[in-house]
Amino acid sequence: MSLPTGFEPIVRPGEPLAQHTWFRLGGAAEYFAEPRSVDELQALVRHCAAEGIQIRMLGGGSNVLVRDEGVPGMVVSLADPAFGAIKASGRKIVAGGGAKLGHLISVAVREGLAGLEPLVGIPGSVGGALHGNAGSRGGDIGQWTCRATVMTRTGEIVERDRDDLTFAYRESSLDDLVILHGEFELEKEDPEELTKRMQKYWIVKKANQPLGHQSAGCIFKNPRGMSAGMLIDQAGLKGSRVGGAEVCDLHANFIVADASASSQDVLRLIDLVRSRVSERLGVELETEIEIW
Ligand code: EPU
Repeated sequence: MSLPTGFEPIVRPGEPLAQHTWFRLGGAAEYFAEPRSVDELQALVRHCAAEGIQIRMLGGGSNVLVRDEGVPGMVVSLADPAFGAIKASGRKIVAGGGAKLGHLISVAVREGLAGLEPLVGIPGSVGGALHGNAGSRGGDIGQWTCRATVMTRTGEIVERDRDDLTFAYRESSLDDLVILHGEFELEKEDPEELTKRMQKYWIVKKANQPLGHQSAGCIFKNPRGMSAGMLIDQAGLKGSRVGGAEVCDLHANFIVADASASSQDVLRLIDLVRSRVSERLGVELETEIEIW
């Protein structure tokens, strides 16, 4: 694969992806792009579409495991501030797809806008959160989303209104290539009350999940009406290891990696957990993280 001249300022070949993910594992992207404007992004997307180059969007890197072999084609990051603006007005907030979800939540709380605070502590970008309908037991991002601006795989920019958006558990109809902006309609509340509530969510989360570790959020989706973490725990798998990857003692739906781990270790551990839970409890677990 070759790139035409003109993309050099924003595209790097052979970029190691481990440094861009929370797992800190995996190989390199054949090409890695950090566009600095919507126009640059659009030109790149159009080029990839015309040349048949596979293109993937990397969000905050907190819900992805990159294989050791690396990723063919183009990986695009919206880390440039051009994609991260957040603006509140009345009961609405518009946030760029590249903004950090945590930043959006803190702006909402500061403005006295309620709804997103149960999501505190969820890492990643606004685009990633919308793509996978990130959430917690207190709610998900989709329920507050009233509009989105996306870029399709052919580089077209499209507005999608509430009627055109559907969200379910860790699922969203926002399956276009890029989420450029999300618009959220929230509820007015006293910022001090909101701050207290957010702090409570944060304390519970910190006590139950290994937030500071080399990890990637919950590995498996919760099967309907059940908790994957509880099932993995009941199957006696806490502390199970493959190489440098271990089922977390604090919460069994997390896998934590150490400095010696490879992606292959994590993948083998995922297989082990799935087969043990299936054998012992008769439940088939499905991964929540994306495996590249
Ligand atoms: N439990 C165990 N052992 C464990 C883990 C959990 O027995 O190792 C039990 C808990 O004691 C509790 C029940 O399982 O009775 C549920 O646990 P928890 O409240 O931690 O919720 P969860 O269903 O495991 C879900 C989301 C989390 C989210 C929390 C809190 C999924 C897959 N997980 O976890 O989201 O933070 O609720 O709202 O939907 C994520 O999606 O990446 C994620 C971390």
